[in-house]
Amino acid sequence: MAYDVELAGMTLKNAIVTAAGPWAGNAEGIQRCINAGAAAVITETICLEERQRISPRLFMKDQQLFNTMLYSNLHLEEWERVLDQIDRKDAKIICSIWGTSASEMAYLGKKLENMGADALEISLSAPIGSRNKLISYHSPDTEDFIHALVDTVNIPVMAKLSYESASSPDFLKELENAGVSAFSAIDALKGLSGVDIERKRLLMPTYGGYTGANIRPVSLAMTAMLRQYSQLPIISSGGVLHFEHVLEFLMLGATAVQLASAIQLHGYDIISSIITSMETWMASHGYTGIEDIRGVALASLRPFEDIVPSPLAITITEPCRRLDCTLCKQSCLKEAVKRDSHNAIVTDTLRCDGCGLCVERCPDKILKLYWR
Ligand SMILES: Cc1cc2nc3c(=O)[nH]c(=O)nc-3n(C[C@H](O)[C@H](O)[C@H](O)COP(=O)(O)O)c2cc1C
Ligand code: SF4
Ligand code: SF4
Repeated sequence: MAYDVELAGMTLKNAIVTAAGPWAGNAEGIQRCINAGAAAVITETICLEERQRISPRLFMKDQQLFNTMLYSNLHLEEWERVLDQIDRKDAKIICSIWGTSASEMAYLGKKLENMGADALEISLSAPIGSRNKLISYHSPDTEDFIHALVDTVNIPVMAKLSYESASSPDFLKELENAGVSAFSAIDALKGLSGVDIERKRLLMPTYGGYTGANIRPVSLAMTAMLRQYSQLPIISSGGVLHFEHVLEFLMLGATAVQLASAIQLHGYDIISSIITSMETWMASHGYTGIEDIRGVALASLRPFEDIVPSPLAITITEPCRRLDCTLCKQSCLKEAVKRDSHNAIVTDTLRCDGCGLCVERCPDKILKLYWR
C-alpha cells in the first residue's frame, strides 16, 4: 500500500515527520531519523550564530516534559557539513530557521537552500526567551520577514505557529498573503514545571517549552481550527506519542504529523514503530491511502451554538458492587449515584442533570446516559 502524502509540492513517502529539536541537531541524529523511516526531518532551529547550551535544559515533573532549548548549537558553516554528510535516502530535509531581521532571514534561507534544504520552516513561535515579543504574533515585522524569505528562495517556506498564533485567523491570513506554503502547529506551550515550596524557588530557572501528552488536546483543537481557517497544508505537532494519535490528527485534516517529545522520551525507534503500526492499522481497515481518512472526523465537529440541549439522565446497564471503585460517586455533585444497603450502585434519574462525568470515568463502561 502507498501511504505517501503531498506537502507543498513535495512528495513524502509517509505522513510521519520528525519535528525540530535536538534529536535532529547534528548529522548523526538526522541520519537516525531517516534510517527509522521518517518521510521528512525538520532540523533543530538554525541561526547565523551557534548558541551555547545551558545545563540542565530538560526537566520532568509528574511525567511532563519541559525544555529550555532555543536554537542549534552549530553555526551555519557546520550545518553545511551536516547536510553534506547525511545519506538522505528518500527523505526530505526541512531546515528550521530563525533570524533577527528580514535580510538575515533571507540570507540564512538562501544559504540553506544552496546547501540542499528541500524546504524551510520559519520558527515564529518559540515560547522560550523574549524574542517572541518582537515578532511571531501580530507584529508588522512578521510579513516583512516572510516576504524577504519567500522572495529570495525557490523552495517551500512553512510557518511554525504557537498556540496563540494558530488561533488568530487574521494573523494566518497575513502569513498566507506573505507566501507561506504550509503551517506547522503547534510549537511548545510556555510552561513552568512548578515551585519548590520548601525552598520557595522555581524548579526551572526560566520559562520553558511545555510539550508532550498533555498538549495534544490543544494541538488537536488547533489542527481543526486551522483546517477551518485556511486551505494550506498543516503538519500537526503536539503530544503525538502513538500511531493512534497520528490518525487522529489526519482525521482532523492534517497533511502530515510530527514527532518530538516521543523521540526525546523513547528514542529514535519510536519513529519506525509508529510508522509500522499506522500502516498495519490502515491496511487492516482497508484504507489504500491517507486521502481515505484525511479530514473525515471534521464532519462531526459542530459549533457549540448548534448543539440542541437534550434531556438525558443516568442509568446503569449491569449491577455493580465493586468496593474498590468510587469514581461515579466521587464524580456526582448531585448525589445521583449512591450505594444501596447491599453495596450495589443505584442511580437516581430525578437528581441527575446529565453532565456525563460518571459515564466518562466508569472503568467498566456500565453507566450510560439515556433519553428521559
Ligand atoms: C527538547 C526540545 C527541543 C525543541 N527544539 C525546537 C527547536 O529547535 N525548534 C522548534 O521549532 N521547535 C523545537 N521544539 C518543539 C517541537 O518541535 C514540537 O513542536 C513540540 O515539542 C510539540 O510537540 P511534542 O508535544 O510532540 O513534543 C523542541 C521541543 C523539545 C521537547
Ligand atoms: S451524569 Fe452527572 S449528574 Fe448524572 S449521575 Fe452522572 S455525575 Fe451525576
Ligand atoms: S464507576 Fe463504574 S465500576 Fe466504578 S463503582 Fe461506579 S459503576 Fe461501578
